[in-house]
Amino acid sequence: PQVSTAALARDARRHGRGLGAFNVVHLEQARAYEAAARDAGVGVVLQLSENAVRHHGGLEPYAAGVLALARASDVPVAVHLDHAEDLDLVHAAVGLGFSSVMYDGSTLPYADNVATTATVVATCRAAGVDVEAELGEVGGKDGAHAPTARTDPGEAAAFVAATGVDLLAVAVGSSHAMADRGARLDVELVARLADAVPVPLVLHGSSGVPDDGLVAAVRAGIVKVNVATHLNRVFTAEVRRLLQADPDLADTRRWTAAGARAAGTEAQRLLQLYAVG
Ligand code: G3H
Ligand code: ZN
Repeated sequence: PQVSTAALARDARRHGRGLGAFNVVHLEQARAYEAAARDAGVGVVLQLSENAVRHHGGLEPYAAGVLALARASDVPVAVHLDHAEDLDLVHAAVGLGFSSVMYDGSTLPYADNVATTATVVATCRAAGVDVEAELGEVGGKDGAHAPTARTDPGEAAAFVAATGVDLLAVAVGSSHAMADRGARLDVELVARLADAVPVPLVLHGSSGVPDDGLVAAVRAGIVKVNVATHLNRVFTAEVRRLLQADPDLADTRRWTAAGARAAGTEAQRLLQLYAVG
């Protein structure tokens, strides 16, 4: 069934696990990650980013399939709007029945981030939709990798109290869209943030973090682990291999299925890796 993102995160934490959150652009990916969660026996977050919505030219046709998949699933599946800056898009996701939205005001001055996030929380709360916000900018979305930003624990606690958000994304050394897994996280800071902040913490840019770094981060208090790039690389590498091996292949089902199968296998491995408790 479709479930609340915050409840899924709290449940994962209680069971000593991280919560896998995978970005989906195609329904094949969504199906593969839902199946991976089923095989791993855990819940999962399927997330649709504002960029992906732009790619599809609109939210509803793309989201409807993912929402239907979540509702029909045997395992708990949350459907999340990722990195939204457009408030109209947030409202559209609320109207469609998303589990949660991320309002990303991380590039705004602190006071503006608080004010806008608080209005998003007010809207979403009335509709039973959870809100994730970000404090301290996890860079890399524009291709510039500067994993130096850090979230201050005291400011994070004040931000959560002032806004009422249900999940908080923090900057602890990762960066978005890394092609290698060489990022080194500030695990000690994760632990201090987990102590200071009463809501589940979210790690963005997790593709750049090696397996042992992800395990250490979850042990220290990261709950929701966002992965996009790494699984896209696995998907695309498999498609490339298949098309090179068979240049006459024309049936689109063949290569989308192969890519999704490879990405699903890796997603399942990650979900098992997050079981640190
Ligand atoms: O919000 C999405 C994630 O932060 C994904 O980042 O592409 O570096 O895994 P990534
Ligand atoms: Zn992100």
